Amino acid sequence: MSLPILFSRLFIVFTVLVFSVAEGFSQKIAVQNLTVEHLVNPFSVDNSKPRFSWKMQSAVKNTLQASYEIRVGKNEAIDKSRVWTSTKKSDQSVLVTYAGPDLESKTKYFWQVRVKDNHGNASKWSQVQWFQTGLTEKDWVSNWITVYGKDTSLASPMLRKEFNIRKKVKTATAYITAKGLYEARLNGQRISDHYFAPGWTSYQDHLQYQVYDLTESVKTGLNAFGVTLGDGWYKGRIGFAGQSKFYGDTRALLFQLEVVYADGTKEIFITDDTWKSSNGPILSSDIYNGETYDARKEQPGWDDVGFEENALWKAAKILPKDKVKLVGMSGPPVRKHETFKPIKIFKTPLGESVVDFGQNMVGWVILKAKGPAGTKITLGHAEVLDKAGNFYTTNLRSAKQSNEYILKDNVAQSFEPHFTFQGFRYVKIDGYPGELTTDALTAVAIYSDMKQTGSFTSSNTMLNQLQHNIQWGQKGNFVDVPTDCPQRDERLGWTGDAQAFATTAAYNMDVAGFFTKWMKDVSADQLENGSVPYVVPNVLNKRDAGSAGWADVATIVPWDMYVAYGDKGILTAQYTSMKRWVNYISSVAKNDLWNSGSHFGDWLFYRPNDDNDGRAAVTDKYMIAQTFYAHSTQLLINAAKVLGKTDDVNQYEALLKRIKQAYVNENMTANGKLASNTQTAYVLALQFDMLPEENRKQAAERLVQNIKDYGNHLTTGFLGTPYLCHVLSRFGYDNVAYDLLMQESYPSWLYPVKMGATTIWERWDGIKQDGSFQTPDMNSFNHYAYGAIGDWMYKNITGINPVAENPGYKEVLIAPKPGGKLSSAAAELETVYGLVKSSWTLENGIFKLDVTIPANSTATVILPKTDKKEKIGSGNYHFEYRY
Ligand code: BGC
Repeated sequence: MSLPILFSRLFIVFTVLVFSVAEGFSQKIAVQNLTVEHLVNPFSVDNSKPRFSWKMQSAVKNTLQASYEIRVGKNEAIDKSRVWTSTKKSDQSVLVTYAGPDLESKTKYFWQVRVKDNHGNASKWSQVQWFQTGLTEKDWVSNWITVYGKDTSLASPMLRKEFNIRKKVKTATAYITAKGLYEARLNGQRISDHYFAPGWTSYQDHLQYQVYDLTESVKTGLNAFGVTLGDGWYKGRIGFAGQSKFYGDTRALLFQLEVVYADGTKEIFITDDTWKSSNGPILSSDIYNGETYDARKEQPGWDDVGFEENALWKAAKILPKDKVKLVGMSGPPVRKHETFKPIKIFKTPLGESVVDFGQNMVGWVILKAKGPAGTKITLGHAEVLDKAGNFYTTNLRSAKQSNEYILKDNVAQSFEPHFTFQGFRYVKIDGYPGELTTDALTAVAIYSDMKQTGSFTSSNTMLNQLQHNIQWGQKGNFVDVPTDCPQRDERLGWTGDAQAFATTAAYNMDVAGFFTKWMKDVSADQLENGSVPYVVPNVLNKRDAGSAGWADVATIVPWDMYVAYGDKGILTAQYTSMKRWVNYISSVAKNDLWNSGSHFGDWLFYRPNDDNDGRAAVTDKYMIAQTFYAHSTQLLINAAKVLGKTDDVNQYEALLKRIKQAYVNENMTANGKLASNTQTAYVLALQFDMLPEENRKQAAERLVQNIKDYGNHLTTGFLGTPYLCHVLSRFGYDNVAYDLLMQESYPSWLYPVKMGATTIWERWDGIKQDGSFQTPDMNSFNHYAYGAIGDWMYKNITGINPVAENPGYKEVLIAPKPGGKLSSAAAELETVYGLVKSSWTLENGIFKLDVTIPANSTATVILPKTDKKEKIGSGNYHFEYRY
């Protein structure tokens, strides 16, 4: 069928957005989902010029915001307590900067917004939302305290104090942080659902505190605070070299409760040497090794009023002031999420009692038990069973991942750990008194509280399982910092893994706050010479830095977040760090060639035994390094353009030309063949535009030939994999990209799926075809890097793309590319403007596409096979034609 005929058969149906609003609201537009600095009602905004975002809801197609009005006040009656109003003709609804008078510290501000649209409709005022400013240095009047004597016990100390709240309370706000981890309780109750507070940052540079609104929880009269401290990242084991006490050997607490009474007077309660401390039931607790809890050592009531402190309770010790910078939270806290019941309790061939929860996850098991005092129950955790069906923990290396509970008297008890997490699907239980039933066991997944923003589904169930595995890889490894893996003695913020996965992560979940927080650590841990560590927070040797594709996290993640969320602020905040990284490479490069230093290269690429015919997949590490030198320089130029830094643009554009020329001189023959004839070599050269225009087509052909030579298999590692299918698509080989994606035999994305994976594996063949394992030295079954294919799936299969020139999905590109024998695919993405949807079916030769674009966004739709471009505004659209 010719194209014109095709077009004549194409018809577009517009359906109006079905719009339901609460409380009988009748206007045509509304404003919802208000956030400040990416967070809903944040408690500790450090930024003196916080930024406001909102989403417009409209039942009318082609809606754009024409103007907005924001008002900020000191109480809910904003109008009467107003500190700032701003009315602007503008379509900006994301990250609008506060420009009123200086904000006071530790103060709650209320705000709301209303908008008008391009059709003359006006919204009502939004619901009132708020943000609270953080403490300045001088607002901290409290003391760091620790246990009596020296903090040498493995046990977790408990610290307690009763306060007399003398009058009726208007507000009560607690500010808390710790060296180590803390769990705070008030009058017998945990004060929040946060876990692993204060979170992991580059502690030498800054430490987060948390803010809790306790207005409703405190009572007039005596109140008791009890805080337990754990070793955490601060004092416990961290890093694979067996080290502990990396940041310090003394766990400590800093606590400040600020009460404003109804009569307007104020009182501040602090930590000092009138607090008492004692050890309790947590005999030891370590992130890698797990926790030992002896219920016989519980001290009932210790966290409540009226507890009688026995001789074990000693006065806490005040520590000298130190210089650590205290900062508010800029990311989400870690919380509990999904729970799982056992799908099977069974005996392994070795006779061990094992429970299968059906999903590899990160968190822990809540265990119920009853038995004679002193009974010890041990829970071991594993990701997989071995070939024979036995519990397999060798790949955990030295991490014990084991929790021990010792029962008190014959009463029903429920246990869960406090300061440790495990990566597991299977749990081995020893010493359980009586019969173990599913009732006794619940697994709970914990991760940073990121809202799920994306979903992807298709007619292929294996592909859907792959998407599931990618999402669970993200959940398991976004536990306050982006980690490589969550189970063995590592769990570190490997920079290469994070940059490889960042764009996929931003589809699946709202990671704006998460990465904003972590990028501060990237800057903080950047070395004096500008090099960037292998892991952040950096707990390895200082010299462990500067690996191509790892250190480039400094430029890649800020740019990715800018594109995904339209956040210019992250570019402003990270610009110096980005520039320092590029300048570092320049300082070690010779004649613009980066051919020194130690690099991981295309980590964990496919290693077949075919070196003899020249098809081995080894890519020269310096060749890779040069492509990342170019990539980082390009991203720095992009950022400089956004920020209006013209001098830098000119300077680095000239540098970029030289970098590419140096690459060509060093690595390309006159006919365009590359020094390493590998998939990764061609992928990186094409992705980063290293080759002269006229050489690109043939390079893409060589890439495709290489893939064919391997029988439609990929051979790429951590650095080539994220871009592989993108490059194929860009050069017109969507079919080859689909061949790779749908490939079920090793090496491929679906091979682990076929082998029963529920998360992404570290290696293409973590479990080999004969059921045996790869080397236990490095064989994680929950490692997100190869999950980077998710980015291609959203962008190409369902075709949801951001447009960098108009970031944050202010402008959307919808360009689905059916293939891989799929008869349907659908994706949704909750962007900062609202919901983008793209779903299609291809049945009986008819292609049907449904698209949703949120208010205040526009889109270009490129219809597959026709290349026809449609410019559309917000609303729901249906396209249908013979394919
Ligand atoms: C980690 C990785 C990391 C790599 C660097 C491994 O131990 O698990 O994912 O990027 O080391 O070589």
